[in-house]
Parts: sequence; C-alpha cells; structure tokens
Amino acid sequence: KCRRQRWFKTRPSRGRVGSIHCCTNLRETKQATQPVEEDWSYPVPSEYFDRVTNHHVKNIEEYMRIYERSIRQPDEFWSDMATQVLSWKQLWDKQVCSYNFDVKRGPIFCEWFKGGKLNACYNCVDRHVEAGYGDQVAYYAEGNEESSDLRGYTYRELLDYIERLASALKSRGVQKGDVVAIYMPNIPELAIAMLACARIGAIHSVVFGGFSAESLANRLMDAKSRVIITCDGYRRGEKMVPLKTVADTAAELAREAMGNNLVEHKIIYQKLNPTEYSVTMDSHVDEWWHDVLSKSEKHCAIEWMDAEDPLFVLYTSGSTGRPKGIVHTTGGYLLYAALTHRYAFNYHPGSVYFCTADCGWITGHSYVVYGPLVNRATQVIFEGVPTYPDADRLWKISAKYKVNQLYTAPTLIRSLMRFGEKYVKNCRRDSLTLLATVGEPINPEAWKWFSREVGENRCPIVDTWWQTETGGHMILPPPVQGFYQKPGSASIPFFGIVPVVVNEKGEELSGECEGYLCIKKPWPGMLRTVLGDHSRMESTYFSPFRGLYMSGDGCKRDKDGYYWLTGRVDDVINVSGHRIGTAEVESALIAHGSVAEAAVVPVPHDIKGQGIYAYVTLREGEEPTEELRRALKHAVREHIGAICSPDVIHWAPALPKTRSGKIMRRILRKIAELGTNVSQSDLGDISTLSDPQVVETLVSLHGK
Ligand code: WTA
Repeated sequence: KCRRQRWFKTRPSRGRVGSIHCCTNLRETKQATQPVEEDWSYPVPSEYFDRVTNHHVKNIEEYMRIYERSIRQPDEFWSDMATQVLSWKQLWDKQVCSYNFDVKRGPIFCEWFKGGKLNACYNCVDRHVEAGYGDQVAYYAEGNEESSDLRGYTYRELLDYIERLASALKSRGVQKGDVVAIYMPNIPELAIAMLACARIGAIHSVVFGGFSAESLANRLMDAKSRVIITCDGYRRGEKMVPLKTVADTAAELAREAMGNNLVEHKIIYQKLNPTEYSVTMDSHVDEWWHDVLSKSEKHCAIEWMDAEDPLFVLYTSGSTGRPKGIVHTTGGYLLYAALTHRYAFNYHPGSVYFCTADCGWITGHSYVVYGPLVNRATQVIFEGVPTYPDADRLWKISAKYKVNQLYTAPTLIRSLMRFGEKYVKNCRRDSLTLLATVGEPINPEAWKWFSREVGENRCPIVDTWWQTETGGHMILPPPVQGFYQKPGSASIPFFGIVPVVVNEKGEELSGECEGYLCIKKPWPGMLRTVLGDHSRMESTYFSPFRGLYMSGDGCKRDKDGYYWLTGRVDDVINVSGHRIGTAEVESALIAHGSVAEAAVVPVPHDIKGQGIYAYVTLREGEEPTEELRRALKHAVREHIGAICSPDVIHWAPALPKTRSGKIMRRILRKIAELGTNVSQSDLGDISTLSDPQVVETLVSLHGK
C-alpha cells in the first residue's frame, strides 16, 4: 500500500503537483485537483534565489531525487555523505549500518560506520586550520551587555585553547570514556570545553546553566563525573547567576551521596570582575581556567575514536521523574548534525550564521557547536537574552554581524512580536537571507510575522522538527526552488528519514491522517542508548509500537504529505521550547512538606506555547495561602530550576481519579483551560470517576 504524497507544486500556473510514493521507489507527476489557495500561497520566495546563488540543492525535484536515493539505497547514500562531509582516519568495516528496532527479536541497537575511526574535534577545528582557514572567525561572541568585550575566536585560536584545555584534562586523569560535566554560560569557552573533551575521547555532559544544584548533582552522580568545568558567575539580562556556588553545592551533594571520587577537580572560567564578585576557591579541588591553560601543554594528541564511541550525553525530561541521559556517538551524530546544518540552512562557508540556542540544550550541541563547525561556519554565539537591554537585541546583533541565517525559537518570536514592529524596523535586516525555528510548533501568526517583519518577505522560513534523541533535524521545509511552505507545518522529511503516522494499535495510517509520529528506519544521528539504562531506551522509544521509534509527538499528515506536529502525547510539557516532565515537577512539589499530592498539566500560554499548571492537594491542617503558593513555586525552582516553576497553582481538595486510582489528566487539562475556549460542558465523560463531585469542586476553585 503506497501513500501518495504531494510535496510540491511544480508549475503553479497550471496547478500541477509533483508527488512521491514514500514507501516505494516510484515517482510520478500527477494532475492535482485545484489546490486550496492557502496551501500554495507561500513558495520559498523567489528573491531568495536572486540574492543567494549557491545552493546545495537546486530545486525540489533534485531534493526528491536525493531523498529517494537515500531511502532506496541508504548504504550508498550515507557512505557517500560520510566521506564527503567528514574526514576519517580510517574507513568503517563493511557494514554502513546494522540495527534492530523490534523488541521481540532481541535487544534494540543501531550502529553506523562501525570500525571507522575519526575524531569530532579534528573534524570541527584541526582540519580547517590544516587547510589554511586558521584565520577565519569561528565565533563572534556577543555578551550580555552591549558594551561587553567578550572575546571571539578564529579557528586557530579555538584550536589553541582546545589543545591546552584537553592536555589539562588529561593531566588531571581524564581518560577516554570518562564523563566530564560542563556547567557554563553560553560563551565560546563552553564550546571549547566540549571540543576539548571530544579531542581526548572524554564524553561531555553539558548541564544548562539554569538548572539547580540538585539537578546538577543528579547528573554528576548519574554519569559519575570526576571533573566539572564551570565559571564563577554571569549576568543574564539583569539577573546574576552564581554558577560556581551552585556547582559547589551540587558537588557536595553528589559527594555526600556517592563518595569523594566524584568531582575531584573543578576548572573555573573567570567571567566576572573579582573586585565586584569573588568566589571562594577550595585549593584541593578548584583551579582557575586561566591558570590551568597557561600551565598546560600547548599540544594535545588526538584520540582516534570508533564511529560508535560515545561523543556526549545530554539529559532530557521524559514521562518519569528521572531525566534520561541520552547518548550520542561520534560518527553518526557528527555526520547527521553537519549534513542537516548544511542542507536545512543551505550553509556555505563565508556566510554568517546565528543560532540563538544555549549550548545547554541539544540545539546548541548540534547547531552551535558540531554541525556548523564541521561545515566551517562563521557564527555568532550570544550569551544574553533577546529582551535585554531592550527588545531589539536580536535584530541589533543580526545587523552588527551582518547575519545571513538566523535560527531561533517560536517562543522568542512571540515574545518579541508583543513589542511591536518598531524594534525590528529600527535595525537593518538586509543581510538576512534565511530564517529558521525550532522547539515547538510555530503558530501561523508568528510564522507570518517573522517572515514579513523580520524577513521582509524574502527569506525562507525553515521550521525544523526534531528532538534531543534524534540528534538533528528530521522534518523541515527545504529552502529550495519550487517548494511550497505552509505556515505552521514542519513539512517534509530530511534525507534518509521515513516518518510514519500510526494509530493506538500501532497500525500505519496512509494518506491524510492523524496519529502518533514514529520513525521507521534508522538514521545516523539517532540516540544509541540511555546512559546506564538501556532498557529505558527500549521501553520508552521502541516498546510502544513494534519495530518503530516512537517520538512521543502527535501529528497530522495532510493530503499533500506535509507533517503538522500537534504536541506531545506523553507527560511532557513544552515550555518555551524546553522539555519539562510533569513527574519531575510533581515530585518537587511533593517534596515540600505541606503537599500531600500534586498533578501537573500543560495549559496553553500566549508566549511560552505551554505553561505549567499544578493542582496541589495539601496535607491535613495546611492552609492554602498566597505565601504557601509562593513557597511552592520557589521549591520547584530550587529543586529543578527556574524554567520549571509553575505558572498556576490550583488548590485541589482532591484530584479526579478513576476507580482504579489513576489521576484523570484529561479532565485536569480541561479545567485548567476553563474560561479560554473551554467551558464546563467540554469536560467530557466524568462518569468513570470514583467521585464525580471532585470535578465540581475543582471548577469552583478555578482562578482562586
Ligand atoms: C517539540 C528540541 C513542533 C516536539 C530540538 C519534540 C517541535 C520536542 C519542533 C523535542 C517543531 C521541537 N515543531 N514541535 N519544529 N521542534 N518540537 O528534545 O514536541 O528539547 O518532541 O529537542 O520539542 O524537544 P527537545
């Protein structure tokens, strides 16, 4: 059974639509019924092709040809890409890929380019210097303050610092396979720390600077990190973030729980002026970055890694309380990050690329560090926030560095839209050629605003759907001639990706449909395991539907074969593009002595996409006061981090449960939305509740 997918309209005037049979090799052109006006209103703008003349892919027909080859002859396709994009010390053994996606047939695994030898740092930096590009700027660094003199790096300078830091790590006993924690602001030194690890085969575990001591401690313990690279502190907007103090507390917590060989060394980058902010240094553990680097060996040999050796671990939230350490490997991940960066943004060396993501998240890993550096990009790395000192900061930065490709998040676009167009209009945008988004579905209003006000209607908008687990873009609208964008749709699969939509039973749906988004075939950038818990990888991603990778997202596929993401189908909330597990927030609330029970659900939020809505049942004798509300929000900040603090705390004398004691989250979601477009009659069937009266009580307490 073939699903016919129309991906583009070849000749708009005659209404012809090209189509593809995704699961077979056929390709055909077919007379379409008259397309809906809206569907074909946004071709990739022709001005883009007037201004940008070099293209990795000429047009949608070529994109489709490459796509088909990637599906039909994956081994040939990926081995061509691997040799074109990366430099290998030694090519892989015979097999390009071997895998098992079927839990019934044995353990889940996936290997790419096994036996091949390469090094990620060599591919990102050394080889560019060797090829004579040492003086090219790798990072322009923009600080929190407009006047800051944060330093940027050329590829040669980057290499120099990486080598020194890598030798320092080695001389402190870090070996291939050890996990080094990195807890830093978004500055080039964070990338240097990651690459120094990669150079010597250490696995980095970057923890976002906004996470609390407890979250950091959990990650230190899970990966048994003996070394952490951090910084004294930094300003984010108006706020001061005392990173070292948090890291100290985390190290103490971890050592108390697991013994003294955890966090034996801390290397601290000095960011603040010591006369204004000083930190206490423990001479047994703490060393300044500048001292370490000035004393360490200038050169550090490269550790050649097997393609399947881990490159990094990055923790992400799931349905259960404990974040999962997602493991990515050297060969497949690096290739996939680089290839997607190259094609999604049509990147060519020489243009200036700016991704606003923090390296604490996967977007920073793949699209601030590995992908762009493999492609010898010149980029802007930004430490601050888009609204500081004013709401024009992103546009000012784009003008200052003459940014060509800008990659950001829908939540940022929505928050900047609020301030009106004047902030955008005050800045020159003529350098921008391509705009892109990630993190959550982009609502059509934000898409159109971004395209019109920022892109002056002449830039493609590349809405990239992907996940920490996928390593790189999976579904995106390719910025190629003849492709029609649809605002709000992540559009079509990247090379080698076979998305399928399935129903509850795991049956593949065809044509226009709605269901769970799964991936059918392996791709090089996919996660290999969950650190220390392979069975969790199997049960989370491969047990729901036999033989398929389950993304955890719901989606619709329209008649033209475009994918529209509809949000998470598990207990994960997407707040400003960041994944937050409801279970994590619930356990942070319950840890507060006054709480008997808590249930957390998402609620639509104008700027953040989703907000966190917490139902809290207090213990006997506790009073629901405003002060307690504040204390509970504070408790969540302390336990996990500020991004997880609930927007609303709804006092709940009891929670709606089924007779078997399961909390009915569907109803809680609806009650949270009351007064928006939801009314009491929308609550649905409540007859299966053990006590339907509970719902009435909750409704009466809404907004109180
Ligand atoms: C959501 C971020 C719709 C989705 C790269 C996914 C998106 C989760 C998009 C992964 C998009 C990300 N359209 N939804 N363009 N991009 N998502 O692991 O729910 O932080 O499962 O990776 O974000 O979040 P993560």
